[in-house]
This record gives sequence, structure tokens and C-alpha cells, in this order.
Amino acid sequence: MAVENLMDKLVAHCKANGFLFQSSEIYGGLNGFWDYGPLGVELKRNIKEAWWKDMCQNHNELVQPAQAPSTYDMVGLDCTIIMHPQVWKCSGHYDLFHDYMVDCRKSKKRYRFDQLRGQWVARDAQRIFVTTMAEPEHEREDISRRALKFFNLRSKDLEKLQFEDRVLTFDKLTAEDRGVVLGPDTDELGTLTDPREFNLMFKTYVGALSGEEGAAFLRPETAQGIFVNFKNVVDSTRIRVPFGVAQVGKSFRNEITPRNFTFRSREFEQMEIEFFCHPGQSSDWYQYWRNRRLQWYKDLGLDGERLKLREHEQDELSHYSCGTADIEYAFPFLPPGEYGELEGIAHRGDFDLRSHSEGKLDPKKRPLEVEMTEEGQPRHRGSGKDLSYRDDLTNERFIPHVIEPSAGADRATLAFLCQAYHEVQSSESGGKFESRVVMRFHPRIAPYKAAVLPLVKKDGMPEIAAEIYGALKKKFNVFYDEKSAIGKRYWRQDKIGTPYCITVDSQTLVDRTVTIRERDSMEQWRISIDEVVAEIEKRIGT
Ligand code: GAP
Repeated sequence: MAVENLMDKLVAHCKANGFLFQSSEIYGGLNGFWDYGPLGVELKRNIKEAWWKDMCQNHNELVQPAQAPSTYDMVGLDCTIIMHPQVWKCSGHYDLFHDYMVDCRKSKKRYRFDQLRGQWVARDAQRIFVTTMAEPEHEREDISRRALKFFNLRSKDLEKLQFEDRVLTFDKLTAEDRGVVLGPDTDELGTLTDPREFNLMFKTYVGALSGEEGAAFLRPETAQGIFVNFKNVVDSTRIRVPFGVAQVGKSFRNEITPRNFTFRSREFEQMEIEFFCHPGQSSDWYQYWRNRRLQWYKDLGLDGERLKLREHEQDELSHYSCGTADIEYAFPFLPPGEYGELEGIAHRGDFDLRSHSEGKLDPKKRPLEVEMTEEGQPRHRGSGKDLSYRDDLTNERFIPHVIEPSAGADRATLAFLCQAYHEVQSSESGGKFESRVVMRFHPRIAPYKAAVLPLVKKDGMPEIAAEIYGALKKKFNVFYDEKSAIGKRYWRQDKIGTPYCITVDSQTLVDRTVTIRERDSMEQWRISIDEVVAEIEKRIGT
């Protein structure tokens, strides 16, 4: 299936079946914001719950896991979205969390400098650079169309134009070249500005003050709430290093060009762990978390062939990181062979605790801009609190190093949706073939775990089905359906990814057994009604 075709189909499927809707759709939508419908909310909640259960709750601190340097502990936290503005100064986000963007003076549109792409096109002596914001698979077509229009030619005149081979990003052009650039949404040359820094944090105002004294930011990551509570957690739980703190919550980034469905949104959810350890063990913990997080996606059904663990190059590292690996997935909206980031696992050293304490340096040891007091002394920009840790067994005092597995709940949901989407051919009774969709979710994350279906709406079958439905509902999200032919009802469940269908039929009236049908194999078998709950529970696993 062609890439764009598959993605278009998935987006349409998500809308038609209540997984995802564009936010504020009846008002034309708001770019970069998405709502989860009745099925999507269950899917995403199951993913977040699986993450919490596997990373935080099920963790046994008494047993050393395979490949872990030692035993460790895990606890959770839920911090506010708006925090003291100084948090963002010390985290580096205020000074360093920006993208470069260019504006179009004519169309008033804004583009990310490194995402704007284009191609040199010449006609006779005139050579211009035609840009586009079309998806990669459509960009050449878009460039040709716009070049023809600019030179006032028709499609049949395409051979009158000379196209250079490569599509380039705008940041590869010299400042001089920019005078002959045709912006993506205009038909005039040279309307794009020079690149400018654009901070990605959303600004708001706290309280009645609308001036700078009341200015605050919506958090661009959940991580900082964990760092600033490090001491509170240690003091209130008597937890010992090494330990991890998990948090799930909304983050906000004013992305210049949100795109690819929910992949790059302006409001999204993160599932982050800050793992505090002794500096001498941090490299081993970094390895441990990289492997553990990759395995988690595989265990929940992502295809290992479409997953990749990629170590960042030195010049790619974030301002805080001394080593980062991304878990990447071959999302279908990307060209073949390209991967998109699903999660980052960063070795942050002692940067965060140190800067929230001293507010002094970034990890590349460049001083952040230092504010001076009236007496000409550098102002203390950290909290001034001692965020070091004393090991009560060895009496050693140190600033823990941090390993941070940082996942996006929406990106994970998108990857599971892409992985689940399958089209199968089914034969109808008339011998005709029909293509239909089966969402092959892992049972743990499927929105509905089972559907209960009375074969006919009479002979006491709906009553027995209601009894089974009631028993299952106490444990899981279950669907009840008594409308239309049984084959159609199975397909309806396949389409939304329900792994098991339980059918009450005439045999049930004789011996109180029901049929269970499995979504992917379409295998069917009978079990007693009394065993249904235990059977579904066993098959879903935890
Ligand atoms: N605390 C580290 C941190 O936030 P990040 O790589 O910027 O690191 C972590 O973000 C994860 O959050 C990403 O791997 C991705 O899954 C998710 N994420 C980041 N920006 C996003 C966006 N604009 N839309 C959706 N998910 C995003």
C-alpha cells in the first residue's frame, strides 16, 4: 500500500471509529491539537496504565532485575503544569529551548528553518529556489506545479524548465541566495525573512497581573517537576539512591510546524522517568534503561523490524545531555528507510539537580547569562537549596546522576495505531471478496477487551448474554451487540480491535457453554459460562 494512502486511510479510520478527532473541528480545527474519541481515550489510557504498571507499580525493589546493576526503587509524582518561572531559567528552557523560524512577509506564515525544503529551478537565464511545505512524497510535484505557475507556463511546458537534482533544506542556502527564494505560500520572490529564534514555551500570566511580574509558562516537559521535588521525595519516603520517579502528564510546545497527525502536536502527554543513581554507576543504568524501554514496545506489539535504537551524535545532544539514545519507529508517513522518534533515553549527568541548586552552568560548561545584583555580585539564580544526597550506609555525599527515559503517550498511541492497522480480504457468502480493516492491538491495550453477542434476539439468549456482559464489565471494558448478522458483528469488532468475541447460541441454552472467537486467528472454541471471566483475564495478561 502506498505510504500516503495508508496514512490517509488510518486518519480516516481513526475519525470514523472514534479514535481521534481534530480539536475544535466544528470551528475549522486548531492546528496541532487533537481530541481522543471514545475508543482513542481507552487506547491511550491503556497505554499509560501499562507504562505505569510495568515501570512503576509492578516494580519489585527486593529483586535485582536481569542486566540491572543493582536493585532499585520506583515511586510516582504528579506535578503542576505551571511552575515557578525560575524553574525554566535553571533548566535552560528559557534561554535555549527554541527553534529557528522564518516568516513570510507576504503570506504572514511561519516556517521552521530546517523543515522548509525546496529545489533550484531555472528557465533560460532566470534561476529561482522554489520552496514547499508538502509532505516528502508530494514535494517534487508541488515544486513543479509552483514553478510552472511562477513562470506562467502550462503543465505541458514542463520540459522548458531545468530542475536541479536535489531537494534541499532552506538552511543550506546562503544569505545571498535567499533573495531568489519563492516562499511556500506566495508567488513573489524574496519574501522570507532571515531565521530568528522562537522559544517553544507557551507564555501565560498568573493572577490579575498581566505584566511581566505575572508571566509564567506552560511546562514543555514533565521532567522539571520531578527535579524540583527531588528533596521532598527523598525526605518524605526515606527512599535510597538508586531510585526512579515516574510521572505522566500534559506538556505544551508551541511547535512552529505541527504535522503528521498527532506525531508533532502542540499539546501532548509525556510518560517520563527520572532515575537517580550514583555517578559511578550511571553508564550501566543508561544501558539498562535503553534496553528495558526498547523491550517494552516490543512486548506490547510493535514490530522489532520497524524499531531502532539510535545513539545521538555529539552535535545533536540537547543542552543537558552527556549521551542520548532515541527509540525510533518506522512510521508510515515517513519515506521508506526513515524512522521517527518515539522516546528519548538521556544520560543527563548531574546537570538538573546542580542547576536547580546553584543555577550556574549548562553541561557544556558555558555560563548561562548571569544576572548581577545592584552591588555588582552575581545573583543566585538556582534555588540555593542543597540538592545533594547523602548515602546513609557509606556516608558519601554526592549529586546523583540522572538517566531519563522520556516517552510520548501520544506518539506511542500513534505507533500502536499504525502497527495495528491491517487490511484483510474476506469472502462474502456470495463468493465476492471485500477488503476490511482489522486493528490488531495487543490485548492489553485494546480499547475493548471482549464483545458479548447473542446469536439471535430471542429464546433467552439476550438474557444470558446480559449476565455474561455484567460479569465481564466489572473487570474490563466490554462491548454488547445484538444487531445484524453474526459475521457482520465480528467484523465490527475486528475494525475497532476487540481481541475476543463471546457468542451465546442455541448450544448455550442446552449446556451453558459459549463460543469464544479470537480476532487475529479467527479460531473459535467453547467454554463454560462460569469460566469466561477467568479465560479472558488469562488471555489479556497484565
Ligand atoms: N524531558 C526530556 C524531553 O522532553 P524530548 O525528546 O523533547 O525530551 C520526549 O521529548 C518525548 O516526548 C519524545 O520522544 C516524544 O515522544 C514526545 N514529544 C516531544 N515533543 C512532542 C510533540 N510536539 N508532540 C508529540 N509528542 C512529543
